[in-house]
Amino acid sequence: MAVIQFTLNGKAQSIDVDPEMPLLWAIRNTVGLKGTKYGCGMAMCGACTVHFNGQPTRSCSLPMSAVAGSSITTIEGISEDTTHAVQRAWIEEQVAQCGYCQSGQIMSAVALLKNNPNPSDADIDAAMAGNICRCGTYPRIRSAIKKAAQLTASAAK
Ligand code: FES
Ligand code: FES
Repeated sequence: MAVIQFTLNGKAQSIDVDPEMPLLWAIRNTVGLKGTKYGCGMAMCGACTVHFNGQPTRSCSLPMSAVAGSSITTIEGISEDTTHAVQRAWIEEQVAQCGYCQSGQIMSAVALLKNNPNPSDADIDAAMAGNICRCGTYPRIRSAIKKAAQLTASAAK
């Protein structure tokens, strides 16, 4: 066991865990934030996506030893009241079906729009390719990302 210090959703966090424990388990079981989901456990589905120093990252495959000193953002950290443009767009477009993949989808979409405020279809497909949705919500995800881009642009005017 080792005490790992990092920033989680903007707040200092210090937890005593096995350094080889994946971040996903620390987030869900040690800290108790359940919004980040377990899908494949092999960095292949995107359900567990969080931001690691601002980059979308599969938390199922990131050991806590690598998290020390870093900044992690989970779905709970992107807004306090689901008012982030991506969350609003997701609701307006009624993207979710079963919902299981959606926090990972949203975290990838937030990262995409931060780097590219007006993505093309090809940009969206490239950025979201690692996030699998068994319910096939891909067309609505694409629409919601475009709507979020519009919402962000009009808020900036
Ligand atoms: S659970 Fe991490 S990528 Fe599938
Ligand atoms: S909404 Fe069901 S897996 Fe994506």
